[in-house]
Amino acid sequence: MDLRSRYGSWALVTGASAGLGECFARELGRQGMNLILVARRAERLERLAADLRRECRIEAIPVAADLTEEEGLQALIRAAAEHEVGLLVNNAGFGWSGAFVEQTDESIRRMVRLNCEAPARIARALLPNMVRQSRGAMILIASVAGHMPTPWISLYGASKAFDLHLGEGLAVELRSSGVDVLTVSPGHTRTEFHGAAGVSGSTIGGSAKPEDVVLDALLALGRKELRVHRALNRLLCWIPRITTRRAMASLSGAMLARRLRRTHAEREA
Ligand SMILES: NC(=O)c1ccc[n+]([C@@H]2O[C@H](COP(=O)([O-])OP(=O)(O)OC[C@H]3O[C@@H](n4cnc5c(N)ncnc54)[C@H](OP(=O)(O)O)[C@@H]3O)[C@@H](O)[C@H]2O)c1
Repeated sequence: MDLRSRYGSWALVTGASAGLGECFARELGRQGMNLILVARRAERLERLAADLRRECRIEAIPVAADLTEEEGLQALIRAAAEHEVGLLVNNAGFGWSGAFVEQTDESIRRMVRLNCEAPARIARALLPNMVRQSRGAMILIASVAGHMPTPWISLYGASKAFDLHLGEGLAVELRSSGVDVLTVSPGHTRTEFHGAAGVSGSTIGGSAKPEDVVLDALLALGRKELRVHRALNRLLCWIPRITTRRAMASLSGAMLARRLRRTHAEREA
C-alpha cells in the first residue's frame, strides 16, 4: 500500500531546507504526499515548495520557524492544525563538537531545545489526532551517536540518546493504536550537518548519501521500530552490548578525538 493510502495525504517535515529533511520532502512529494515544510531559511523553503508543486503536482506549504523558540513551535502547530497531518518527520537537529566545557550556554540551550524539546512537543501536538483517526506515522531522526557515550560531542550524543529512547518508547506505547513510530539512526551522512558541527571526515561506518538514508527509512516505516542505516553502523551500535560502558566511552572518545584533530589540521593547512 502506498504512503497516502496508509497515512493520508499530508506530511510535515522539520528541517526541510537542507540535508535529510529536504530529501524526505522530495521523496514524499514524489510519492504524492502534500507537504508542510518547516525550517528557519524561508527562501530555501519557498524554492523547495515551488519545485515540489511544479514537479510533483502536490500542495506544499513553507513555514519559516525557529524551533528553538516557543513562537516557532506555535507557528508549526498552527500550520499543522489546518491540515490532517498523517505523517510527521521529526528531523531538524544540529551538532556541536569540542570540549564540553567550551560549549556556550546559548548553544547548550538551543541544542536541548531543537534536538530534544522540539521533537517531543511536536509529537505531543500531532500524535493525538493520528491516534483518534487510528492511522498515522512518525519518523524520528536519532543518530548512531545516540547509541553510546560520545566524548567530544557529549551533549549532541546525549540529545540523540534522548531521541532514540523517546522514539523506542513511543513505538511501544502506540503499537496497538494504528500509528507507526520509526526511529532512524543514520551514521555519517553527506549533508550540511558536519560543517555546522565543526567536524570533518567520515567514521568507520563510512559515509552515506542522504537519499539512501531516506529510502531506507521509508522502506522500514511500518515494518520496524528502529532502523540503523548501513550494516557497519549496526555493528557499531551493537558493540556497547558486548563491552563495558566505560570501555565503549573510551573507544568512541578516541575515535572522535582523532576526527577532531584531523579537522583542526585541515583547517590550519
Ligand atoms: N548528517 C549526518 O551525518 C547525521 C548523522 C546522524 C544523525 N543526523 C541527524 O539528522 C537530522 C538532519 O540533519 P542533516 O544531516 O540533514 O543536517 P543539515 O543538512 O544541517 O540540516 C539540518 C536541518 O535542520 C534545520 N534547522 C536547524 N536549526 C533549526 C532551528 N533552530 N529551527 C528549525 N529548523 C532548524 C536546518 O534548516 P535551517 O538552517 O534553515 O533552519 C536544516 O533544514 C538531525 O537531527 C541530525 O542530528 C545527521
